[in-house]
Amino acid sequence: MEVTQPKKVWMDGKLVDFAQARVHVLAHTLHYGVGVFEGIRAYSTPEGGAIFRLSEHVDRLIESARFYHMPVAYSRSEIEKAILETQVANGILPSYIRPILYRGEPGLGVKNLQGKVSLSIGVIGASKYLGDGSDAGVRAKISPFRKPHSLAVPSFAKATGNYLNSYLAGIDAQKDGYDEAILLDKGGNIAEGSGENIFLVRDGTLYTPGLESDILLGVTRDSVLQIARDLGHPVVEKTISVNELLSADEAFFSGTYAEIAPIREVSHYQIGSGKVGPLTQAIAKVYYRAVHGEEPKYRSWLTAFPVAKAVAAARA
Ligand SMILES: Cc1ncc(COP(=O)(O)O)c(C=O)c1O
Repeated sequence: MEVTQPKKVWMDGKLVDFAQARVHVLAHTLHYGVGVFEGIRAYSTPEGGAIFRLSEHVDRLIESARFYHMPVAYSRSEIEKAILETQVANGILPSYIRPILYRGEPGLGVKNLQGKVSLSIGVIGASKYLGDGSDAGVRAKISPFRKPHSLAVPSFAKATGNYLNSYLAGIDAQKDGYDEAILLDKGGNIAEGSGENIFLVRDGTLYTPGLESDILLGVTRDSVLQIARDLGHPVVEKTISVNELLSADEAFFSGTYAEIAPIREVSHYQIGSGKVGPLTQAIAKVYYRAVHGEEPKYRSWLTAFPVAKAVAAARA
């Protein structure tokens, strides 16, 4: 995947050049996977640019840090301001913004809580992630790798170490020619994709697994649930078996990077008609309008920022 790299990376209060954005090789986070992060998108809107659900992402970042005993030296509003500053300094749009809290100084010893907890923020160009771009839907494989039990590694905290599991499942699916993996939970029920939540539709009702299936509670998942309810469709959060997924009328992934990605096939079984279903289409339409500032009802999900003329021209 070709990505636009940032010119500047925000590191503990300073915007440094991309080439200087470095961390020590003996850093605690590098060795033990104890870091917490977010993935956030910024979009163009009729008024300029906007970050989608910034405060929800910052809340999750702070909550993840709390769980991993990482004191955060910045307030919510300071983090939001820093994210906006980094976005504006780089002028990349649409963008994917990656704040991360980590112990970056030399600090070996797994129980070492001494090292400073740093915040850095990078911005890259965002592109379509899943599928071939035809919008015909993605092919997903039920992964041989399960989600870890949340008593081993809690799924609600977005920690760097969690992504060993996503990596193994994602690469396995990719090597088998699929677009994405679907991981099962400890009980063999549907949990989520390697970097997305999952939904299915049956008889006009939208279903998605809950926290008991060891999922990350996605910000996009929450947006989808709100949109579906507002469209008048019942939504149910419950344990979902593999059978229920394979026999669904429609299915799709949701995630900040993946956005709304219809699923047309799961492990060689066609889902529904094999085409993007009507409820998936209806939700996706509202979602994409909302992120681009075209749905007044969801305007509060956006944090606006000014866009330089050159950036506006480049995306036109
Ligand atoms: C494992 C996992 N599940 C779900 C999601 C979707 O979460 P969100 O919608 O907040 O991006 C992500 C992406 O962050 C993820 O990595």
